[in-house]
Amino acid sequence: MKLKVFSTIILSLTKACYAWPHDLHAWHPALPTDSRSPCPGLNVLANHGWLPRSGKNIDISMFRSAIKGAYNYAPTALDFAFNQALDFNLTTTGNISTINLADLARHDEIEFDGSLSRNDIYFGDNLHFDPVVWGTVAKHLKLYETLGEEKNNYVTVEMAAKARAARVAEAKRVNPSFNASANEMSGSPGTTGLYLLTMWDDNFGAAPKAWVRAFFGMESF
Ligand code: HEM
Ligand SMILES: *[C@@H]1O[C@H](CO)[C@@H](O)[C@H](O)[C@H]1NC(C)=O
Ligand SMILES: *[C@@H]1O[C@H](CO)[C@@H](O)[C@H](O)[C@H]1NC(C)=O
Ligand SMILES: *[C@@H]1O[C@H](CO)[C@@H](O)[C@H](O)[C@H]1NC(C)=O
Repeated sequence: MKLKVFSTIILSLTKACYAWPHDLHAWHPALPTDSRSPCPGLNVLANHGWLPRSGKNIDISMFRSAIKGAYNYAPTALDFAFNQALDFNLTTTGNISTINLADLARHDEIEFDGSLSRNDIYFGDNLHFDPVVWGTVAKHLKLYETLGEEKNNYVTVEMAAKARAARVAEAKRVNPSFNASANEMSGSPGTTGLYLLTMWDDNFGAAPKAWVRAFFGMESF
């Protein structure tokens, strides 16, 4: 289970007022000069210091130790994704082996239309968290409806699939240049799979809503 980063998140929220200077992995929001991506998974890692907090000059070994340390993935499990970023030549660091997080926003390379928490490039900003876009998805996921049965605290695969489908349908409706590229068709279900897998609770067979809220919400700014 990938509990570690989420216990860090919960701790840093509860202890926000007592932040220990020595807590390497305390949550700090990005500074204006820091580089952040359209990917909440990577932004969370930088905001908690598992990746350089600057979000800059990240190489594959930093990425491997971050996903291992924070999410408990096998270090090389997501090499393909990092290498994809290198292969697309989207780096602006001046070193072909490293990326700045913001480099990942280049449209139709890895970034695509119909994201869950970002708007489409057509509307001007495909990088930053968009509260309106995420609000509609959070509503579909019933993220704030947690009373009653225990299962109301979890996002199932079926709920996540329906929420993604609804978001893609809405993006197609409002964006006249929506690009259902090959990249969008494979990447869009892929990112939904990735957040479920990363936050999966093996005991319940679903992802806790509290973690999904933190992951896409303030944690990933
Ligand atoms: C550490 C594990 C990772 C997790 C848990 C993760 C999770 C996610 C999720 C859930 C999204 C969808 C965001 C949304 O729809 O609003 C996303 C998007 C994205 N991720 Fe990651 N990701 C990870 C690693 C990576 C890596 C290694 C790369 C490339 C170097 C990457 C690049 C991207 C990009 C470019 C997007 C934007 C796609 C879009 O337009 O929606 N991610 N990621
Ligand atoms: C990236 O750059 C290399 C070296 O210049 C080149 O061989 C390759 O085709 C480029 N890849 C893309 C996707 O443009
Ligand atoms: C580019 O980055 C790699 C990986 O961090 C590093 O090993 C290499 O020395 C860097 N190259 C230059 C020219 O700085
Ligand atoms: C749609 O995406 C593909 C890449 O998957 C790209 O070649 C094409 O130019 C894009 N079309 C538009 C209208 O942006």
